[in-house]
Amino acid sequence: MDPASPRTVARAPGVGPPVLEGAAGNMVSESAVRDRAARARTRPGRLAACDRWLEVREADLLREPRHGASPVVDVGFGGSPVTTVELAARVWAIAPGCGVVGYEVDSARAEAAVGASRGTALRFLRGGFQEVVRADPLARVIRVMNVLRSYPASESAPVHRLLGGALVEGGLLMEGTSDTDGHVLTAWLKRRRGDSLDTEGLLVFTDFARGFGPWLFRDFLPKDSRRAVVDGSWLRAWFEQWERCWSEVRVSGTRSAAELFRLSLTGLSSERGDIDPCSDLGNGFALWRCASSGGH
Ligand SMILES: C[S@@+](CC[C@H](N)C(=O)[O-])C[C@H]1O[C@@H](n2cnc3c(N)ncnc32)[C@H](O)[C@@H]1O
Repeated sequence: MDPASPRTVARAPGVGPPVLEGAAGNMVSESAVRDRAARARTRPGRLAACDRWLEVREADLLREPRHGASPVVDVGFGGSPVTTVELAARVWAIAPGCGVVGYEVDSARAEAAVGASRGTALRFLRGGFQEVVRADPLARVIRVMNVLRSYPASESAPVHRLLGGALVEGGLLMEGTSDTDGHVLTAWLKRRRGDSLDTEGLLVFTDFARGFGPWLFRDFLPKDSRRAVVDGSWLRAWFEQWERCWSEVRVSGTRSAAELFRLSLTGLSSERGDIDPCSDLGNGFALWRCASSGGH
């Protein structure tokens, strides 16, 4: 079915869209959020860390037959559909039947991407948040990378909740920011549970091309968190704790950036129970289950 066509499948009772109840109990309507076209910059490999996460950690969600034709959705693919094409290749490696849909609010960019389509398996559509929310069927995964950086920080939560209503039960929202080449990336992972969108954690990734110290991630935090790194905040406390673990490893001898990451993370996880060192994904990944520490 065309994701842009009117919905014909009833949603679960009491569940959005266009309205989804967030953890804070706020109801979000479509009118609360508007699309903003922005810079088109993208690059091959930029979002490879997101693809890796999906491949390793979300294989069951991608393969779940109960979700039928529900696709993986990439919102805001930019001036070239390359990262969506890469996403599709990773998804198909583990779930060959899963459709992938890229949305872009800028008409010229959306039109230019059509040549990269692969029938119904990979489609590129002109559309913004409202089109994603109205699409049928619901999405298994919605990825929104390097899109909200051009929105006011106050719009992140409404966008999250709005898009949460476009997910299947157990579906994943991945929203965050990276540098131009994907050397450093962070993303909120949020999952639909009934009428709520639960924060599972903050994913951080680096390939060490920029060296490593925990504060490296600050400039690439999701938009709603960037200004939250202030004295006394839970986010600052987390950075400071990791920084202390990193310093302790560093003074114990010369280490590569990759070793500093791994060993400082081991130290951090021994001090707090909400760190997933993601050893199954390879060095450079960590998930901070900050929801369980009351952070977000
Ligand atoms: C910087 S590019 C990011 C491209 C790619 N996701 C990446 O990370 O490399 C951001 C794109 O998102 C698009 N965009 C902004 N708001 C959007 C929305 N509400 N829906 C769809 N696309 C949107 C912009 O037009 C722009 O082309």
